[in-house]
Amino acid sequence: MKHGNKHSSYRIDHATVQRIMDAADIVDVVSDFVHLKRSGANYKGLCPFHNDRTPSFHVSKAKNLCKCFSCGKGGNPVGFIMEHEQMSYHEALRYLAKKYNIEIAEREMTDEEREQESERESMLAINEFALNHFENNLTETQDGRDIGLTYFRERGLSDATIKKFRLGYSLEQSDALHKAATGQGYNDKYLFATGLCGKSENGRVYDRYKGRVIFPIFGTSGRPIAYGGRTLSSRKDVAKYVNSPESIIYHKSNVLYGLYQAKNAISRQDKCILVEGYMDVISMFQSGIENVVASSGTSLTEGQIRLIHRFTSNVTVIYDGDEAGIKASLRGIDMLLAEGLNIKVLLLPDGEDPDSFARSHTAEELAEYISQNETDFIRFKTAIMLKGAENDPQKRAEAIKAIMQSVAKIPDEITRHVYVQECSSLLNVTEQKLMSHMEVARTKYVEDKANEQRKEKARESIKDIDNKPDNNAPVLSTQQPDSIEENDKQFTAYAAYMKTYESEVVRYVVRYGVMDFCNEIDENGQQYPIKVIDYILRELNVDNITFTNSVYQRMLNEANTLYQENWHNDFAKHNETLIQQRQQAIADGIEEIRRTANDLSSITAKEQALIERVDKEYYDNIIEFNCQYIAKFMMYSQDDQVRTIATDMNIEKHELSKVHTKYAKIETEIDRLTELIPRAITELKDAIIGCEIKAIQQEISNLSSSPNADIERIMELMARQTELNEIKKQLAKVIGDRIITPRK
Ligand code: CTP
Ligand code: MN
Repeated sequence: MKHGNKHSSYRIDHATVQRIMDAADIVDVVSDFVHLKRSGANYKGLCPFHNDRTPSFHVSKAKNLCKCFSCGKGGNPVGFIMEHEQMSYHEALRYLAKKYNIEIAEREMTDEEREQESERESMLAINEFALNHFENNLTETQDGRDIGLTYFRERGLSDATIKKFRLGYSLEQSDALHKAATGQGYNDKYLFATGLCGKSENGRVYDRYKGRVIFPIFGTSGRPIAYGGRTLSSRKDVAKYVNSPESIIYHKSNVLYGLYQAKNAISRQDKCILVEGYMDVISMFQSGIENVVASSGTSLTEGQIRLIHRFTSNVTVIYDGDEAGIKASLRGIDMLLAEGLNIKVLLLPDGEDPDSFARSHTAEELAEYISQNETDFIRFKTAIMLKGAENDPQKRAEAIKAIMQSVAKIPDEITRHVYVQECSSLLNVTEQKLMSHMEVARTKYVEDKANEQRKEKARESIKDIDNKPDNNAPVLSTQQPDSIEENDKQFTAYAAYMKTYESEVVRYVVRYGVMDFCNEIDENGQQYPIKVIDYILRELNVDNITFTNSVYQRMLNEANTLYQENWHNDFAKHNETLIQQRQQAIADGIEEIRRTANDLSSITAKEQALIERVDKEYYDNIIEFNCQYIAKFMMYSQDDQVRTIATDMNIEKHELSKVHTKYAKIETEIDRLTELIPRAITELKDAIIGCEIKAIQQEISNLSSSPNADIERIMELMARQTELNEIKKQLAKVIGDRIITPRK
């Protein structure tokens, strides 16, 4: 693979990651996607990760973290970009590096890393290749110009528009793209995965978009994630459009055509215009209406609505004036309402679509038509529902009910009431009566939704990532269970039980790993510091303990690697700077003292005080540096689970410190580390032994109830049990009689 994997066989090196970390400002990074408002020292906005209606997404500049207080998602800049842009870790780092003009230094990947290399990245790379290929066909080949370009020009598109939307042409040959791509070293696998190529039943490879004009579809960050290919033939048996299949880079229901080109205009004008098709978007854009996107033919999805809501709360939906278009519109409107969007509807004259209308009118006429004719949804729905029902009381009652059902979905109470009032005069029904209809519908809607959410939560909790069985796990039962399923079941239960204990120990490593824990004196009488991580690893190694929850084990390993491979250098560099600063501060201070001193005798005392103050600053700074070190880097780990948990552990710290006075909580915990950490380890060991004792008891009871019991085995087990009970007693002394339950 020559091109597709240009980046992915390398890892970004530690120093580069550090530069990215230092440069990436969370407010700046998030602002590219979420409209943030200042709120005290922090910023707030609508959460981009769930259906947020009131701003629950908090961004803290000081902590360089963001978090949704409602759905819990968030993280540091790289975590945010990964989640938001659905990027891999490396894509996100590259994204940030590019944003902040940081040159990326890379090291070669290990074999293992190479294996895990991003499939996504390869697919995007091949899509990028295809994009250039199709564009190039359009203008640089005879067929492309004669067929594709001519078609677009006939449809009124200017060269600038064609460029802006990066339209292209797929040659009328069955494998032009396939040949070009494989010739450049791209892997077949990704040509199929992206759907650019397919394989026929007889094994022949073909280009999916052969002979079609190409509409590339971009993700919000501007990379091509899919294609739509329109046929130029008018034959009825040829599909008008062929689109990319769903894949890990393309989830149709979360994509809006044109959003990448429109997003700035949408934010600027605080309004989004929603149309149906590719050409509608492009023609309107060319006519100067740039805040326009398309749902690409399918009915609107929640994901698409959420996408819009990231940029604005105001939507105007344009529908064809025909009956089918109107019917389809009503369902979409309810979804938009439920998301808290303000909706207007615009019907075009019969027989027109946005594309034809934009082309037959000037830009001014188009803008004028929109502003004159867009209708508030309630008037629109009322007009449609009441059409032909004027004299039919039955139909009228149904219409009123249906309209109130729509109103009931609006999240904001005041808005609901405003609509009820408006409907009252439109429908000539008393407000009270409408209100009661609406409240009934609202109660039902809220209940249904709560049910749905409960179910969703239940589904989520089943997928708990941390309790996956691990191959290296200790066998819980003293006997090998009969079946793999039984083994897994036992193990999962065990892992769930151990989770709190293991996470507590890991938490100390993440938060305080490279801080000095205690001093040790070697045989030469030399005193040297033991780090928190040294102490913990030693304690675990003595008893041969590995964590049952593999993610915690990986965190431990990663922390140790950071410590062994990077900390010493990073610390030395940091220390050097600090020492220089310290010397400078002392020099400056002394000069100041001498310049302003009244009598010589006070100078020495003042200088003494100065040095003490500067030294304290220096030591505080070192403590701060070490305290942050592991967490800071682990929040940038390439392991998704590690990063998530480390971020949570670190966010928790900040949240605690917010509740108490600044740093008070942290200080308390830091001050008590020599007590807390041994206790956490002892509790972990105690839990392990407790489980083993239980397993032994179980086996003894199983054995004794069998007619021909293996007495020897029972004796053996009982001896082990006594031994374990003795250890447990010792541990209990360390823990103290008040065993602290570890936090959840
Ligand atoms: N669409 C699709 N697949 C189809 C038909 C339609 O994906 N087989 C989507 C496309 O995004 C298309 C939109 O639905 O743009 C609207 O369909 P249609 O009105 O048929 O196409 P137009 O884009 O208006 O195409 P044209 O104006 O070129 O006829
Ligand atoms: Mn059309």
